[in-house]
Amino acid sequence: MSRVEFYRHQLGDEEAASWRRAIGTLFLTLGPQVAAFEQQLGGFLVRGRAGASAPHVVGTSCCTMGLVLALRALDVGPGDEVITTPMTFVSTTNAILHVGAKPKLVDVEPATGLIDPAAVRAAIGPSTVGILPVHLYGQLADMRALRALADPHGLFIIEDSAHGVEIERDGVRPGDLSQAAVFSFYATKNLTSGDGGAVATRDARVADRLRRLRNHGVTKGAADRHGGSYQHWDMVELGYKANLTDLDAALLLPQLPHIEEKRARREAIVRRYESLLRERVPVMAGAPPTVNAVPWMVERRGQSSHHLFTVHTWPGERDAMLARLGAAGIGTAVNYRAIHLLTYLAEALAIPRGALPVAEEMGDRTISLPLYPTLSPGDQDRVVEAVTQAWGELAARRA
Ligand SMILES: Cc1ncc(COP(=O)(O)O)c(C=O)c1O
Repeated sequence: MSRVEFYRHQLGDEEAASWRRAIGTLFLTLGPQVAAFEQQLGGFLVRGRAGASAPHVVGTSCCTMGLVLALRALDVGPGDEVITTPMTFVSTTNAILHVGAKPKLVDVEPATGLIDPAAVRAAIGPSTVGILPVHLYGQLADMRALRALADPHGLFIIEDSAHGVEIERDGVRPGDLSQAAVFSFYATKNLTSGDGGAVATRDARVADRLRRLRNHGVTKGAADRHGGSYQHWDMVELGYKANLTDLDAALLLPQLPHIEEKRARREAIVRRYESLLRERVPVMAGAPPTVNAVPWMVERRGQSSHHLFTVHTWPGERDAMLARLGAAGIGTAVNYRAIHLLTYLAEALAIPRGALPVAEEMGDRTISLPLYPTLSPGDQDRVVEAVTQAWGELAARRA
């Protein structure tokens, strides 16, 4: 029987035609397609808000480099501490480490896995310069609470919004209450060019600095250097080569008008998962709260981008569940094991197991199931069937 893949991208004829058109133009890299995408993504971020001005958007090679550039643009470096979450991909802390600063990890809320504002408050110290929340699975962290904590201390907020551009909570969207929001267009993301990213900021000076930093720290991009007669350029700071390309942007542009419709489709799939699993796996719904009160499904906060659908297994049984689902031909992933327990970060950050108990429990129990707009009801039924069966076997073993 065929596998139910964990993820399938949605790139099709429109994207292929747009990419072919880009090949026929002069610029393959930082050129007019990138500029058009940046402008349209900025417009998307203020959709439905009459008269609102769009943020500046700067296309980057990926979210990780977007985070590095944003930290550099805010002059974060050695001696600085940035508060962030262990329930994320390693990019978040890698970016902080790459600029020479120290990630200060705090625990997450049991109901959502989002950074816990109370833990952030307790962690603010003399070296803290900013907060880096992650909008896990596509739910916005409590940005109003974080902004209120940040302001009296003059802290910046950079949002890791890798999990979506189409996120909203209490009227707040990525980029509304922060110095910068950073997006990913990695292969499995809702909007994708294989690899790619962008930073949205409302600060024009930060945007200028991001543009320079993504391009070696030089004063002119390729289109400025080669359009018309040659002009000299200068290098004024140490930057990176970390721009989005016109070929990436050509793939991304046709996807923008379909973001909401695809989000709605993923939401329908998530609702169906929730109701089928509640009905079919009652033992799961009746799972007793564990020490840290992590529920078996993440609770909703506002409009999620529904990037990932996760369930939390019984403690100690996640890996057995992964093995059974794999054997049944179901693609799965783990988002995430608490990152302070990974070998390098355990050494670099020296945070022992037990220090961040909610994230650790979630990291030990979580499984992500297939979720994408073209997941058919039949394939979804197969996933639910496999989860039900595996759950039953594991429950029998436990009894
Ligand atoms: C939460 C989070 N942050 C950052 C990243 C890094 O994104 P990119 O691969 O675009 O650098 C990812 C990618 O998977 C992610 O899930």
